[in-house]
Order: sequence, then structure tokens, then C-alpha cells
Amino acid sequence: MTMILYRHILRAAALAALAVLPAPSMAADASGNAERGAYVLRLGGCISCHTDSKKKGAPLAGGVALKSPYGTFYAPNITPDRETGIGGWSTDDFIRAMTEGKPPQGMPYYPAFPYTSYTRMTRQDLIDLKAYLDTVPPVRKETPAHEMRFPYNLRVAMVPWQWLFFNGGTFKPDPRKSEAWNRGAYIVTGPAHCGECHSPRNFFGDVIEDQAMSGNEAGPDGKRVPGITQHPKRGIGAWTKKDIAYMLKTGSAPSGDAVGGAMAEVIENSTSHWTDADLDAVAEYLKSLPAR
Ligand code: HEC
Ligand code: HEC
Repeated sequence: MTMILYRHILRAAALAALAVLPAPSMAADASGNAERGAYVLRLGGCISCHTDSKKKGAPLAGGVALKSPYGTFYAPNITPDRETGIGGWSTDDFIRAMTEGKPPQGMPYYPAFPYTSYTRMTRQDLIDLKAYLDTVPPVRKETPAHEMRFPYNLRVAMVPWQWLFFNGGTFKPDPRKSEAWNRGAYIVTGPAHCGECHSPRNFFGDVIEDQAMSGNEAGPDGKRVPGITQHPKRGIGAWTKKDIAYMLKTGSAPSGDAVGGAMAEVIENSTSHWTDADLDAVAEYLKSLPAR
């Protein structure tokens, strides 16, 4: 409780400080590189939620049903269609959604959209990603309304939720660590949002930070997600860096078993497309996580 109170006070102080500073320029500083953006899309795993592969839906046209303990979410259409997609959005609209969890108009997003991790992405990665999204064929397709249980159906509840639980801000490299470690930490905690599935959440749907990556009893579709810290039994302490990189590339664990469930989709849509350097960087970072 005291922690929450402290946060309130700190936030109020930070907001007061911001109010007297001149607003930072929000203008995009580059037009973006769509080719790089296509790779950022793979880092971010956007396809898993925004392409309805099971129903052979058009790329990024949305409609995927995401079951959670709070209800069923439908990931929206993010093709550049003006009416049913994000065709009318500026790059700044896009960056605000990805890093602040706020649409151009209206109440904040539910954290089922992992902006809680994407907030760590660099501005350049987001500008490139938007440039790529602008090249995707626009698809006209309405997204069904979310089917949430009370009280989670009240989107207005996301205002205090953000205030209490959302820690925004771009990833800050640790100068004491290697370049590979920092790249791995950026990918895991930012675009690849590994902790969104591999960390446990509290009653409010907030990731419990001091148990990060220790596993989650109620992951996607209510299924258990294993821990990926260096714990020898309840983690991947026994895996080498090579084992980790190989699994993320191919889906095959050191035991020889294929990794399944939601992770199979992560591998197919995301990690199997990564460069070897990025796979090694992620392995380097995961090997440094204390056992939990
Ligand atoms: C775990 C599933 C998931 C992943 C992964 C995901 N999204 Fe989403 N996204 C959602 C959901 C659910 C919403 C709707 C949230 C809401 O209605 O509050 C959403 C909303 C959005 C919106 C707002 C659209 C609108 O019309 O307001 C954008 C833009 C977006 N996502 C882009 C992305 C991009 C880009 C990526 C990859 C970097 C991504 N998303 C990855 C689930 C996901
Ligand atoms: C959408 C949810 C989701 C995301 C995102 C996700 N994982 Fe997983 N992961 C799972 C699930 C579920 C399993 C268990 C798969 C199984 O039962 O075969 C798993 C398994 C694993 C395993 C094998 C653990 C073991 O003990 O067998 C590793 C390693 C792993 N994930 C690493 C990662 C990394 C690194 C990332 C980020 C790049 C990531 N995961 C992102 C859901 C996810």
C-alpha cells in the first residue's frame, strides 16, 4: 500500500514538473525505413495477435479472439484501411498508441495489447514499423467488440489502471553490460514482450515485477507458461546459450521435444525470423536472469 502511495506522490510531482516544461517536439524525425520495419514487425510478434491465421484472415486485418481471465479480446485491424484499420493515423498517433497505450481519441487500451512492453521500443524502431505498416494492403474488416466480464468491461477503469501500474519509457541500456546483453534485454523486455506471457500477474492484471519471467499459471487460453529464469528446475538453468538460440530458431528444445502451445506461434511468427546475432543476444540476456 505504501508503495502505491509513493507512486501517487512521485507521479503527481512528475506531472507537475512536466506541466511547467515546454512540450517536447512530437514531429517524426525521419520518414522511416519500411524494410527495417518489416523486421521490427517480426521482433514484435504483431502477426500472432493481429492476423487471424486459423481462419486464413488477411495479414494484420485483425479479428483474432484472445481469451484471458478477464474476458475475450479481439485484436483490431491494423492495416491502412481508413475506416476499419489505422489508415488515418499519423506516425505520432502510432507511437502514442504503442508507447502510452492511448488511441488518437478516447479511453486507454487494455494491456491485452502489450504496449506495457512496446513502450520500451526506440522511436526509430517505431517509425520504421509504421513505415512498413503503411505498405501493407488495406483490408476493410470490422473488428468484433471485446467480450469482457464485469468490471473489466469498463474501459474507463484503464485510466486508474495506467496511473497505478503502467511504467512507460524507452529502454535504457546498461553501460556496464555488453552490447549483446543490452540488445538481448531490449528485445526480451521491449518488442518481443516475452514477460507478458512468462511472468505472473496480480488480480489487477499487472505483471509482478519481482517475479518476472518465473512462469505464469494462467497464460494465453488459461494455459500454464513455464519459467525462463536460470532456475534449474522451474526455469531453463540447465540450457546453454546455444540451446536457447536453437530453440528460438527451430522450436526444438534440448530434450528433443518440440515446444508447443502459444510458444509455437511465437517461434513461427517471430523468433524463427530473427538474425543469429539477435538470437545470441537474447540467449546472452536470458542466461543472466537470476533463478526465480
Ligand atoms: C498479445 C496480443 C497482441 C500483440 C502481440 C500485439 N497486439 Fe496490437 N492489440 C492487441 C489488442 C487486444 C488490441 C486492442 C486493445 C484495446 O481494445 O484496448 C490491440 C491494439 C493495437 C492497436 C490500436 C488499434 C486501434 O484501432 O486503436 C495498434 C496500432 C496495435 N495494436 C499495433 C500492434 C503492433 C504494431 C504490434 C506488434 C509490434 C502489436 N499490436 C502486437 C493485441 C496485440
Ligand atoms: C504468447 C505467449 C508467449 C510469449 C510472448 C513467449 N512465450 Fe515462451 N512459452 C510460452 C508457452 C505457452 C510455453 C510452453 C510451451 C509448451 O508447453 O511446449 C513457452 C515456452 C518457452 C521456453 C521453453 C521452456 C521450457 O522449460 O521448456 C522458452 C525457453 C521460452 N518460451 C522463451 C521465450 C522467449 C525468449 C520469449 C520472447 C522472445 C518468449 N518465450 C515469448 C508462451 C510464450
